[in-house]
Amino acid sequence: PIDSNFEQNREVVEEHNGHDVWGPVEEPETLGIHGTHVAVDFDICLADGACLEDCPVDVFEWVDSPGHPESEIKADPANEAQCIDCMLCVDVCPVDAIDVDPG
Ligand code: SF4
Ligand code: F3S
Ligand code: ZN
Repeated sequence: PIDSNFEQNREVVEEHNGHDVWGPVEEPETLGIHGTHVAVDFDICLADGACLEDCPVDVFEWVDSPGHPESEIKADPANEAQCIDCMLCVDVCPVDAIDVDPG
């Protein structure tokens, strides 16, 4: 599962779609964690899609990840500022790739 303490254990290495990316990133096989309030571990996501289907405010969008060993698309928290902390995505992801911190 995603490391819920990623903010302590990782560093921001780049920006993507208006959110931070927490490294390490070594494309194409290591992609890091995208987002902070709504964080998706791209190295765990296997493109199940439940988060996109269930999020009531459409936080997630597919992005391409060609060459990644788990999946060739990832759920990107492109609209993380819209999150209403319902925690549905955290509950439905079959591989626990998502961390939402209501803080
Ligand atoms: Fe969407 Fe709810 Fe997940 Fe926030 S916690 S990203 S509102 S499903
Ligand atoms: Fe990926 Fe989990 Fe969503 S596998 S597509 S983050 S439900
Ligand atoms: Zn992203």
